[in-house]
Amino acid sequence: MKPLIHALRADITTLTVDAIVNAANSSLLGGGGVDGAIHRATGPELVHECRRLGGCKTGEAKLTKGYRLPARYIIHTVGPVWRGGDQGEPELLASCYRRSITLARSKALRSIAFPSISTGIFGYPITLAATTAVQTVRDALAGAPEMEEVVFCCFSPEDLAVYEDALG
Ligand code: AR6
Repeated sequence: MKPLIHALRADITTLTVDAIVNAANSSLLGGGGVDGAIHRATGPELVHECRRLGGCKTGEAKLTKGYRLPARYIIHTVGPVWRGGDQGEPELLASCYRRSITLARSKALRSIAFPSISTGIFGYPITLAATTAVQTVRDALAGAPEMEEVVFCCFSPEDLAVYEDALG
């Protein structure tokens, strides 16, 4: 069956999916934006587990439990800071989506929700980021028949409109 790929407007910490993705920083020890919201929602157990992971490089991803979230797992990925677009940002952003799906598949997960990685504090232009996100996820799912649902979880109605446009 073809997986459902869709966008919705929500607080990602409320979603009942197998894994939510966190737009983290390389320390994995928390921060603002969606990262702060996830750490607040899980409680302090998350940062204890994250301390043992030894950080995460830009474009890579690491998995933890979901603790008090409805989601079973959290996949922490570090998006690129936008520096004008010629510093490898598109490839690094694509890598975040690809690695997250690879990790989800390694645990046989069937549903995953992404925030709009890098488009908040890290300053990536939303239209460019949404195009890369949608294309990369579509390509990755072509080889992932067990995946049933991918959600692009947007925080504002404006972002949701951009993702819906990118999804076509
Ligand atoms: N649910 C869904 N999306 C959210 C939520 C939420 N609860 N809160 C914010 N967003 P950002 P980045 C949206 O800044 O640009 C942190 O300090 C937000 O509106 O969270 O990758 C990390 O520790 C935006 O559309 O992540 C890093 O240092 C999107 O999530 C840095 O920020 C991403 O915005 C990462 O910056």
